[in-house]
Amino acid sequence: MNQKGIIEATEKWVKDQLEHESSGHDWYHIARVTKQAREIAQIEGADLFIVTLAALLHDLADDKVVENEQEGLQRISDWLKSHQVDDRLINHILMIIQTMSYKGGTNTPVETLEGQVVQDADRLDSLGAIGIARTFVYSGSKGQPMYNPSLPVREKMTLAEYRKGESSAIHHFYEKLLKLKDLMNTETAKARAAERHAFMESFLEQFYNEWG
Ligand code: NI
Repeated sequence: MNQKGIIEATEKWVKDQLEHESSGHDWYHIARVTKQAREIAQIEGADLFIVTLAALLHDLADDKVVENEQEGLQRISDWLKSHQVDDRLINHILMIIQTMSYKGGTNTPVETLEGQVVQDADRLDSLGAIGIARTFVYSGSKGQPMYNPSLPVREKMTLAEYRKGESSAIHHFYEKLLKLKDLMNTETAKARAAERHAFMESFLEQFYNEWG
């Protein structure tokens, strides 16, 4: 199968699995991240085939979406093998998927340009109007309130605390979203993040004004 065929088959495979996902990691998130990653890849000179596949597959092993990260990685590996993707490319794609997640700031940095591009694209989708909307959907799916002014903002935390501890949608801005603009890898993503960051800050200001 040629590269175009592999990408199309992978799109369908991922879409079938994430079409009804309801924590903010649905198929449209994948489609936006893939489009964004391809744009950045072209500007930054990253390998488009690797970037596209890693972006399409990136949430299928995420511990926010599937029960078991290792099983998720194995399924992705099996899928790529069954489409005759080169072992070297498979290893690169799996490495990107394993290292790109935020995990409360506890994960190791991504190593390759392709990984940096996909991580940037995924993070850009956590920012701006889309990022705000996804934050409230995700918090709702976890049973968290939109805001609880009596909860402290957690500056340093382990992955377990980050995933399970008591928090709110508004707290998520301080625990993750507002930090992302300074964590972008590529110049292209830094510029795109700045605009979305400013929008979130004005959203928060309005939110507190209305909260009273
Ligand atoms: Ni994602």
